[in-house]
Amino acid sequence: MNNKMTGRSGFSSSFGVLAATLGSAVGLGNIWKFPSLTGANGGAGFLLIYLLATLLIGLPVMIAEISMGRAAKANPITTLQRLAPKNSLPWWLIGASGVLAAFLILSFYSEVVAWVFAYVFKAIGGSILSSDRHVTESAFGALISDPVQSLLWQWGVLVFIGGILLMGVTKGIEGITKKLMPVLFLLLLLLCAVSLSLPKVAEGLTFLFRPDFSKITSGVVLTAMGLAFFKLSLGMGTMMTYGSYFRDDQNIPATTFRVMIADLFVSMLAGVAIFPAVFSFGFEPSAGPSLVFITIPAVFSQIPGGQLLMIAFFALASVAATGAMLSMMEVPVVVLHERFGMSRTKATVLTIAILVVLGSSCALTNSTLANFKLFGMNMFDLFDFASSNVLLPLGGILLALFVGWVWGKDNFLQALSNHGALGNGAIASMVFFLLRYVSPLLILVVMLKGLGLF
Ligand code: PFF
Repeated sequence: MNNKMTGRSGFSSSFGVLAATLGSAVGLGNIWKFPSLTGANGGAGFLLIYLLATLLIGLPVMIAEISMGRAAKANPITTLQRLAPKNSLPWWLIGASGVLAAFLILSFYSEVVAWVFAYVFKAIGGSILSSDRHVTESAFGALISDPVQSLLWQWGVLVFIGGILLMGVTKGIEGITKKLMPVLFLLLLLLCAVSLSLPKVAEGLTFLFRPDFSKITSGVVLTAMGLAFFKLSLGMGTMMTYGSYFRDDQNIPATTFRVMIADLFVSMLAGVAIFPAVFSFGFEPSAGPSLVFITIPAVFSQIPGGQLLMIAFFALASVAATGAMLSMMEVPVVVLHERFGMSRTKATVLTIAILVVLGSSCALTNSTLANFKLFGMNMFDLFDFASSNVLLPLGGILLALFVGWVWGKDNFLQALSNHGALGNGAIASMVFFLLRYVSPLLILVVMLKGLGLF
């Protein structure tokens, strides 16, 4: 059964499949999470653990999600209902937890995207370009502590992404990501070339890659694994949804592997673009948003042509964020559309409305809701922690267990080898072995240990 026969739209070309899937994986995670987490948590040591997590957990779970989506040709909740045997456990809850995770991540992610979009315009206006870190710091502070600006930029982002989703899967998601991905690589290469021509290249690269195993604790291992899930958009039905739009002749393991390598490449290049520049002008490599929104403008102001470079940098981040946001918002939209019988337009409007309410609790963490905390965290940090370190890994365990023990090897192999696209059954068997035994156990141990439960 293909998408034409079911009347569902899907991705129309092989390049479109790759662009959309890579577009989902590549996002602010590459620019805002990966480089600073790697630098702060032991460089090459962290990278090694991240790679292991990606190979032993990320890749198998991604292959599982995509093949399940393609086999059922439906949204995540319906997919699990279709693939699970009658009268078995309520496996569809994995899909429901994915929708919850999508709303939580979108709530804080859309706010960071809001700052990125705002900074494109500020970079064009030139107002944030200053070599004095205090100036760039107060410019950023003024933006995030202004409730009206924070909310309006966030709503603007939600409406913009919703508008693309309304163009549909083929014209909207595939059409836009096909255009944006090449732009992303060009901008990234340009910024790397500039950064590598600066004096302190060695210091920047040392910070990023020098192995320091003393920094590796169980919490750091959990962070690396959480990052692998977040980076590859796993554990919440995003890849399952995109899998349902895959063509039947698409080789799933090969596509997955390409996406993982290209995503890693983008993360490394982002680190290479950022750190040599930061060190060359005597700045500290701070973590998180301040690196992107405070340090980067101060750094670029000291490079000839800095304003253009800064526009390029925030345009790059906006491009990356757009593909990721599209894939996240598609999850609730397609669930509301298919499960609750709403039109795509109604489903998109309702998703935006829910996010306007939920997301404002994150948009206002630096202003009106500065003192509002749950479990000792503000909503922004709580949603980030609960999704990356709890919901996504939990979704990953359950998906791996579902494929490994319930859906079973025959169905899995058949889903992968549709139309003979997969010549190599050995790879499929190995992935199945990982899903059945290795991934769930590893995720469970890392999660419980990282959360301090044993
Ligand atoms: N992979 C995206 C990033 O690294 O920025 C974030 C993301 C997108 C997470 C889609 C989860 C998701 F479903």
